[in-house]
Amino acid sequence: MHQFVWFFCFLAAFCKADFNVKVYGAKGDGHTKDTDAVRKAFEACGRAGGGTVLFPQPGIYLTGAFNISSNTTMMIEENATVLGSVDSKDYPLIQPLPWYGGGSDYQGSGDLIYQSLVHSWGASFIRITGSGIIDGQGSPWWNCWRHDRKASPCNGISRPHLINLIGGDNVQISDITIRNSPSWTLHLSNLSNVHVVNITIKNPSDAPNADGVDVDCSRDVLVEASTLDVGDDALCVKSGKDWFGRTFGYPSTNVTFRNNVVYHGHGVTIGSETSAGVRDVTFENIVMEGTANGIRMKSERGRGGLVRGVVYRNVSMKGVGTCVFVTLNYHSDLPKTNATATPRFDDILVEGLVAKDCGVGFSLDGLPESVIEGLKFVNVDVKAKKMMEKCDHVDGSCTHCSYCPPCIH
Ligand SMILES: *[C@@H]1O[C@H](CO)[C@@H](O)[C@H](O)[C@H]1NC(C)=O
Ligand SMILES: *[C@@H]1O[C@H](CO)[C@@H](O)[C@H](O)[C@H]1NC(C)=O
Ligand SMILES: *[C@@H]1O[C@H](CO)[C@@H](O)[C@H](O)[C@H]1NC(C)=O
Ligand SMILES: *[C@@H]1O[C@H](CO)[C@@H](O)[C@H](O)[C@H]1NC(C)=O
Ligand SMILES: *[C@@H]1O[C@H](CO)[C@@H](O)[C@H](O)[C@H]1NC(C)=O
Ligand SMILES: *[C@@H]1O[C@H](CO)[C@@H](O)[C@H](O)[C@H]1NC(C)=O
Repeated sequence: MHQFVWFFCFLAAFCKADFNVKVYGAKGDGHTKDTDAVRKAFEACGRAGGGTVLFPQPGIYLTGAFNISSNTTMMIEENATVLGSVDSKDYPLIQPLPWYGGGSDYQGSGDLIYQSLVHSWGASFIRITGSGIIDGQGSPWWNCWRHDRKASPCNGISRPHLINLIGGDNVQISDITIRNSPSWTLHLSNLSNVHVVNITIKNPSDAPNADGVDVDCSRDVLVEASTLDVGDDALCVKSGKDWFGRTFGYPSTNVTFRNNVVYHGHGVTIGSETSAGVRDVTFENIVMEGTANGIRMKSERGRGGLVRGVVYRNVSMKGVGTCVFVTLNYHSDLPKTNATATPRFDDILVEGLVAKDCGVGFSLDGLPESVIEGLKFVNVDVKAKKMMEKCDHVDGSCTHCSYCPPCIH
């Protein structure tokens, strides 16, 4: 069978460059494990210096975690699904990201973590595309996280992220649907030059820590024309946690999110892991409906990191819980710390925000030793059941606003 398909491909010159997972033995029947075939296809593609690994339609490819090498396109055809195994043995244990010192479930613990289903480390020129689906089958992972973290498949170890690409440049992710992630969904770590366009991420609204896109210690990133309906932060920028984040020291810079639609989720977010700093982030033309929070910026004592140059422009919200939430007190009552570990927010512009029926309009909460500086509201029209929940330690201004929080002059 293998030889036959190879021969056929040899004749049909156009498929020569493809590493079709079926040629490597994948069944695509939704219940046979295709892990070996999938890993072999990606390895062969890597050895060849790059090419396209194809998940042909129709097919449901049940697989454990695999690595993508440089110059590889992962192509999932329209009626094909890459289905994440729920057997923890299919996820190798690997070192955590040094800037968290642990997995996202146990940051700072130093423990090994489950490798993400779709994974790369130090690879560049990666594309993930096609009109197909990556489904993480998150439900057993959410259940053990909720009820018994020592139980299988969690086994007391940080849950796998669905996609984690680490350390590389020139990454493009387009057209696919990604759903049911065990934890964070699309985690972009220490990358530069990233373009995410026309993707859909769908996790249940109560799936724990099931973020949408996490831009983490990355530079020159554009995420556009995508739809998010998730369990935690929908679009989020981070840069490592506490001592680990500051020591690694890669800030996230020049990140743009535009023309995106957000349904369930915890907001369009910066933080709370801000430790290496975050600069020049724009959220533009964002429509939010039924989201728990709208604009959400969060850090806390101990994190450190300067967040500067954040723009939220042309954002509309309908039925959002807290519409503008900015805090340096995310976990409150933490003890005051030294200047290095004190987070700072500076130069934040919210321009052209229209928010109807918010639960709470504004919750703004700086620290006595770190006032939120330069928070400017321009053309802001917020209607809420309760206009203001908190307004402490903020320095800013309002121009053409239907309401201005009272601690801003
Ligand atoms: C990827 O392709 C580029 C040319 O486009 C080449 O220079 C580079 O060596 C390739 N990388 C790998 C790891 O094969
Ligand atoms: C993927 O690469 C990592 C190293 O970055 C390695 O530890 C892991 O075992 C690899 N996983 C697979 C499935 O080959
Ligand atoms: C992070 O990115 C930098 C710059 O591209 C690179 O030199 C470094 O090796 C990367 N480190 C990790 C752990 O990804
Ligand atoms: C967006 O992705 C869908 C498949 O998910 C595809 O059908 C559509 O053509 C893509 N749109 C654009 C503008 O590329
Ligand atoms: C910011 O990132 C975009 C890619 O999203 C890139 O086109 C642009 O040149 C970058 N800007 C700067 C100042 O580097
Ligand atoms: C504001 O955002 C909406 C929704 O994305 C878009 O339709 C509209 O064109 C944007 N307005 C401007 C002035 O860019």
